[in-house]
Amino acid sequence: MLNVSDNKNNNQYIKLEDYKPFDYEIPNIFLDFIIEDKRVIVKTELEFIKKNININSLILDGIDIFVEKIYLDESLLEENNYSIQKNRLLIKPILKETFTLKIVGTIKPKENFSLLGMYESNGIITTQCEAEGFRRISYHSDRPDILSKYKVRIEANKEDFPVLLSNGNLVKANDLKHRRHEVIWEDPYPKPSYLFALVAGKLNCIKDNFNTKSNKKVEINIYVEKGDEKYVKHSINSLKKSMKWDEEKYNLEYDLSLFNIVAIRHFNMGAMENKSLNIFNSKLILANKETTTDEELERIEGVIAHEYFHNWTGNRITCRDWFQLSLKEGLTVFRDQEFTSDLHNRSIKRLEDAKFLRKAQFREDSGPTSHPVRPEKYLEIDNFYTTTIYEKGAEIIRMLKTLVKEENFNNGFSNFISTYDGKAATIDQFVNKILENNKEINNEKFKTWYKQNGTPLVKFKRKWDKEKQILKIQVSQINSNKKNLYNDLPLIIPINIAIFLNSYEKIKKTLILKEKEEEFTLENINSKFDSPIISYFRNFSAPIKWETDTTFAEKLLILEFETDYFTIYDTIKGIYKKIICKRIYEEPDINIENKLITTLRSIIRNNKSINLSLLSEILSIPTFSEIESEIKKVDPLKVYKTIDDLNYLFGTKLKVELLNKLKEIDKNITKLWPEGKDERKLIETIWRLLLHSKYEGIKNKVISYIDSNSMTLSKAALNVFTRINCPERELISNIFFNKWKHNPVVLDNWFFFKASIEINNNQKNIEALFKNEYFDVKSPNTLKSILNAYVTRNSLFHSRDGSGYKYVADKILEYDKSNPIVISRFLKIFSTFRQYENPYKRNIIKVLDYIKKNKLSPNTREIIDAILN
Ligand code: PHE
Ligand code: ZN
Repeated sequence: MLNVSDNKNNNQYIKLEDYKPFDYEIPNIFLDFIIEDKRVIVKTELEFIKKNININSLILDGIDIFVEKIYLDESLLEENNYSIQKNRLLIKPILKETFTLKIVGTIKPKENFSLLGMYESNGIITTQCEAEGFRRISYHSDRPDILSKYKVRIEANKEDFPVLLSNGNLVKANDLKHRRHEVIWEDPYPKPSYLFALVAGKLNCIKDNFNTKSNKKVEINIYVEKGDEKYVKHSINSLKKSMKWDEEKYNLEYDLSLFNIVAIRHFNMGAMENKSLNIFNSKLILANKETTTDEELERIEGVIAHEYFHNWTGNRITCRDWFQLSLKEGLTVFRDQEFTSDLHNRSIKRLEDAKFLRKAQFREDSGPTSHPVRPEKYLEIDNFYTTTIYEKGAEIIRMLKTLVKEENFNNGFSNFISTYDGKAATIDQFVNKILENNKEINNEKFKTWYKQNGTPLVKFKRKWDKEKQILKIQVSQINSNKKNLYNDLPLIIPINIAIFLNSYEKIKKTLILKEKEEEFTLENINSKFDSPIISYFRNFSAPIKWETDTTFAEKLLILEFETDYFTIYDTIKGIYKKIICKRIYEEPDINIENKLITTLRSIIRNNKSINLSLLSEILSIPTFSEIESEIKKVDPLKVYKTIDDLNYLFGTKLKVELLNKLKEIDKNITKLWPEGKDERKLIETIWRLLLHSKYEGIKNKVISYIDSNSMTLSKAALNVFTRINCPERELISNIFFNKWKHNPVVLDNWFFFKASIEINNNQKNIEALFKNEYFDVKSPNTLKSILNAYVTRNSLFHSRDGSGYKYVADKILEYDKSNPIVISRFLKIFSTFRQYENPYKRNIIKVLDYIKKNKLSPNTREIIDAILN
C-alpha cells in the first residue's frame, strides 16, 4: 500500500487563503444502501471528470468505513494501487480524464453515538452530514463546492423499515424476496454532499399539500413516531406559511413536487435543511398549545421557515467552502427574522433579536472563542456553528439593507440568486451583488464587517449652539480587541437616531459613520430643551455597543417620548444595569431606584395602549445571564442575590399596579396563540415580581395554573417558583412530572426546572436527574436541559468551594466521549472566567486545567485550548 500523510486531526489549521478548487468534477453519484441487522453495506459510484490535467492521483475522505473492494471503471483495483489511512483514501495512478470509481464499504449505525453520519435513534436509521458527516457514510471528496446529482437505492427489511426516504423524487418502489423491499430516489438538482440525507424506519406520515404560485402541487409529508401524529398541525401550517411568504417576498418558489420533514428524537442541533428531506429535532416539530409554549410555537414556526428558506439560500446556491458558512446561515437567519416580523409584531421581534444578540453573541465576542463572521482559519468546522456566524451574520445583512434601502436590497438579492443558482458562492460575491449599483458605500470597506471580531464601541458627544440652532454630534468608533489586524480599520456603521425637539416632535435620521472619528452637523434644530435629546441606534441599527452623554434626567424623558420599542427597552435595561452595579460595588442608589419605580408605576397606570410584551420586558429585572457579560468583576453569588433583592423591592413597591394589571388582562389569557401571547408573557413577569415580594395572596393562584391546558401558563408557573424556597415548590414539581412523564419533549422542561432549583445537597439533587428512569442517555435535549439550567439558573453551581464547577467538569469529560459536538459547545460556559472574582476565577482555572489533562475529542480540545490561551 502507498503512504499518505494524514493532515486532519494533526492540529493543523485549515486556512481560507489555502482554498483551491478540486481537481475533478463529480457530476453524478450513485449510492446503494443495503440495510442489514448489524451493519449497512454502502456501494458508492462516483463519476469523475478531471479538471486539472497535471494530476494523476486522487484523495478521498472517509472515516470509520470498512472498505471491501474498489473498482476503477469495472476493474478491481489491486491493493498496491491505493492506500487507506485513518481518514483518507489515496488512489494512484489515475491517467484517465473521465472514469468511475466504485467503492464497496460497510458502516455500523447502531454503534454510532456521535449523532453524525449514519446513526440510529429509537430504531430509526437517520443521517446528519453537515458539515463533514458524509465521509462517515461513504468515501467522497466531502467539500461543499462539489455539486453532484444523486441517485440513491435503499434496500431493507420491510417490517422494521417500512419507510425508506432520501432526497428528491421517488422513482421506484419494489418488494423483494425474504420480506425485503427497495426504493430508488433521484434528486434532479446538483447538491453538495452535506445536503444528502437518508431515513429508514417505522414512521407515521401525515400528509398535506401546497399549491405554488405557478400552480404546481407540492405534496407535504411529515414523518413522526407512532402516537405523535396529533402534534404536527402547527408545523404543517408553518411550512405552508413559509412557502407562501418566500413567493410573495422574494419571488422564490419551491422547485420539486415533494417536501418531506422527519422528526427525530436524538438530534444534536435544531434542524437540518437536507434537500427536500428536512430532518428536525422532534422538539421543533411536535407542538400544540397544551404541550408547547407561545415562545416555542413562534420558534418552531421560525425554524421550519429557516430550513425551508435554505432551499434557495444554502441549497440552490451553496457555499464555496466552510469559511463562507455565514453566506447561507446569516442570510437565512435574516430571512427567517423577516418572516416572523411580517407574521407577528416587527418591533417586538426586533427587540427580542437584539436582546438575544447581546446576551449570546456579545458574550461570545468578548471571550476567548471570539471570531470573525468569516473566519480565516479553523481546526474543527463543527465548532463554528456559532451565534457570530448566524446572528451577527444576519445583523450585517440587515445593515446592508438599511444602507441601500429595501428596494435596492431586494433587487440585489434577486440578482445574487439568479447569478449563482446551481453554484457554490462566497460572501464577497453576495455583498458585491447587493452593492452593485451603489456609489455611496465602498464594497471593500463594508466587508471589514466580515473580517473583524469583537464588538465595536461607538461614542457620541453633543455640541449645541442654541442661538444658531446648530447641533453637532461628534462620533468615534473603536474596537478594543487587538488580536486581529482588521480590528484597527473603521467600519461603515448605520446609526438611526431621533432628535427630540419637544414632547411630541422629533426628527428621525440615519447617520452613516465611515471613519474612526466624524462630526455630523445638523441645522435648524428647533429644540425646546436645554440641549436636544437624542436617542441612538434606534431599532438596533448596528450590532455594536455605544456610550453617550445623555443624562439620567434625559433618559427619563426619552422613556416618555420614545416610540421605538428597542430604544425604550434599551433605556430601561441601562438603568437596571446601573442600579445593579451600584448595589454590587457601592451603595444602593435610592434616588435612581425610586425614580425608576415611579416611572414604571406611571407606565403601568397611564399607558393603556402599551404593547404588553414590551411592558413585560420593561418590568423584568435582568437575569444572571443577561447581566453577566455586562459587568467587569463578577461575583456570581452577589449578582444572584442582588437580582433577587430587586425582584423583591420592585414587586413590593409596584404591588397595587401589578395586581390591577393582572385583573385587566385576565380575560385575554385563554385566547389561542398568537392571540393572548402578550398577556401571557406579562402574566409571568407579574407573577414573578409578586411572588418574590412575598405576597402570599398570589401563591395559590399561580399553583392553580400548573396543570392548566396552556403550556405557556403552566411553564410560567414553574419558572416563577424557581427561586422561591417553599414547600409548594415540591408540590408543583410533582404535579408537572406526573402529568408529563410520558412525553419526553415536555418532560425536558421538568428536568430544566429541577436542575435550576437550589436545595441543600445540591449535586445529589442534580445527580438524581441523571439517574431518573425517564432520563434518556442518548438524548442531547435532556442532557442540555439539565446542564444549562444548572449553570445558568442555579447559583449553587458557583459554590465557593468550587464543587459545582468540578461536578460539571466531570460531566463534560463523561459525555465528551459519546457526543463531542454537544459538549464542546457547552464547554464555552467557562469562557468568561477572566471577568470573575476569586475564589470563583481560581476555581474555574483549576477545573479547566483538570479537563485539559484528560483525553478529549478534537472539538473539545480546540475549545479548551482557546479558553485557556
Ligand atoms: N444547517 C442547520 C441550520 O442552521 C444547522 C445544523 C448544522 C444542523 C450542523 C446540523 C448540523 O439550519
Ligand atoms: Zn441554517
